Amino acid sequence: MTERNRKIYITTPIYYVNTKPHIGHAYTTLAADVLSRYHRLTGKDVFFLTGTDEHGAKIAQAAEKNGKEPQEFCDEISGLFKQAWKNLGIDYSYFIRTTDKHHEQKVAEFLIALKEKGFLYEGDYSGLYCVGCEKFITGKDLIDGQCPDHKCAPEKVAEKNWFFKLKEFLPQIERLINEGRILIQPEKAKQEVLGLFKQGLDDISVSRQNVTWGIKLPWDEKQTIYVWVDALLNYWTATRQDDRQDYWPVDLHLVGRDILKFHCVYWPALLLAAGLDLPKQIFCHGYFTINGQKMSKTIGNVIDSNDLITKYGLDATRYLLLTQFPFGNDGDISLERLDEKYNSDLASGLGNLVSRVLTLANNLKLQIADCELTSRVPNLEEARQKYRLALDSFQFNEALASVWDLIGFCDKYINDEKPWEGRDNSKEVVGDTLLVLREIADLLKAFMPQTSDKILNRIENGKGDSLFPRI
Ligand code: MSP
Repeated sequence: MTERNRKIYITTPIYYVNTKPHIGHAYTTLAADVLSRYHRLTGKDVFFLTGTDEHGAKIAQAAEKNGKEPQEFCDEISGLFKQAWKNLGIDYSYFIRTTDKHHEQKVAEFLIALKEKGFLYEGDYSGLYCVGCEKFITGKDLIDGQCPDHKCAPEKVAEKNWFFKLKEFLPQIERLINEGRILIQPEKAKQEVLGLFKQGLDDISVSRQNVTWGIKLPWDEKQTIYVWVDALLNYWTATRQDDRQDYWPVDLHLVGRDILKFHCVYWPALLLAAGLDLPKQIFCHGYFTINGQKMSKTIGNVIDSNDLITKYGLDATRYLLLTQFPFGNDGDISLERLDEKYNSDLASGLGNLVSRVLTLANNLKLQIADCELTSRVPNLEEARQKYRLALDSFQFNEALASVWDLIGFCDKYINDEKPWEGRDNSKEVVGDTLLVLREIADLLKAFMPQTSDKILNRIENGKGDSLFPRI
C-alpha cells in the first residue's frame, strides 16, 4: 500500500453520558478531528471513531436522578454529544454507542472467547468501588476517605465477579511499551505507565454482580460486563462490520491522562489474550483547569463548547481551544484570555489581514492568477514543513504558530511597503501577500475548514463577509 492511500484509524475516548458534553470532551474530539482532516488532506484513508459510553452504575444513577429510564436518558445525552460535534464541525467517520445491539453482541462474543481460552476465572471481590471513576480502588487512592477526583466516599462492595488474568500479560506489555511497539507519548505519560508495573497490578474484574444496566455476561446472566471492558471494546467492535475490517488495528488512541491505565495496560492485555493486534500509538494529552480550578458541576465552572461557538463562532472556537497550551501538557483556560486571543489573533490578526489584502488587490485590480512570488517572501516550503512536523508530533499550537508567522510577515511587509501609496512595487507586494494568503488558507484547512474556504473564495471572487468581528 502506498503512503497516500494508507489506512489510518484514530479514536477518541467514548464519553460517559451521565452529563452533557463540555469543553473537556470537545478538546480531545477536536484534536482527533484536526488530525483526521490533516491526514485525509494528504490522501490517507482515515477512520475516525468517537461515541458514547452508556452502561454501568454511574449512568443508571444519573438516569434515575433525572427521573428517566436508562435507555431514554442515554438516547437524550448521546444525542447532545452528536449535536455538539456537529456544531463544532467534527467530521467523524462513525459514532458508536455502547448500547448499540451490534456492539453488545460483539462484546459478549469477545468475553466468551476469553473464557474459552482460559483467561477468565470466578472469584470474590471485596473492597472499595468509586462509581464516579467506575473503578475498584484501594484505601491508598483516597484522600480523607474520599476519591480525590469525585470528592465522595467510595462504596464498600463484596461481590462475586469474573476476573481476567491480567497478571499473565504484564511482563509482555511492559516490554512492548519499553520497546516502543506500543508507543506511548509524551514521555512523561510513558513513564507514568511504566511506574504502574513497578507498583504491581492485580487481575481485574470483567463483570459486576449488582449492576443491572449493562451487557449480561452470556454464561452467568446474574452478572453484567464491567463497564470499562465493555467500553474499551468499542474500538474493536466498531470495526467488526464488513466495510471496516481493514482499519483494524488502531493507529492512534487519543486519551486524557485520567484513563491512561485503562488504555495502556488493561486494553493491550485484553487484546493479547484474544490474539488481536495491539494499538500502535497512544497519545495522552493534559487536563485543563478553568481559572486555576478543576472544571466541575459543583464549582459551577463547566464550559459548554456550544456557548463558546455562540460567542466566537465555530472556527474561532476550534482555534481558541487548541492554542491555549501545548497539547501534551496540563494547562488553564480563562474566558478573559479567550477574548484577548480572539481579538489579537483572529480579529486583528487573520481577519484584518484578509480584508486588507483583498481590498488592496481590488483597488489595484489584481488577480491571483497574474501574481508570482518574489524573493521577498519567506520560503513557503519551509513553513509547510514546520507545520507538518508540528502536527506529526501533536503540537497543534506550534503548527498554528507557523501559520501566524506568515500572517505576521504579511502585516509587516504591507506596513513597510505601503502599497496604498502607489509606489512602483505595489502590485508585487500585494501579489506576494495574496499568494501567501492562499498558503495560509491551505494550511488552515484542517483547523478552520470554513474560514479556509471563505478565504479561498474571496481570493477567487473578491467578495465575501469580513471575518472575525471584534468582541
Ligand atoms: N467513558 C470513559 C472513557 C472510555 S474510553 C474506552 C471516560 N469518559 S469521560 O466522559 O469521563 O471522558 C474522559 C475524557 O474526556 C478524558 O480522557 C479527556 O479525553 C476528556 N476530558 C474531560 N475533561 C477534561 C479536561 N478538563 N481537560 C482535558 N480533557 C478532558 O472516561
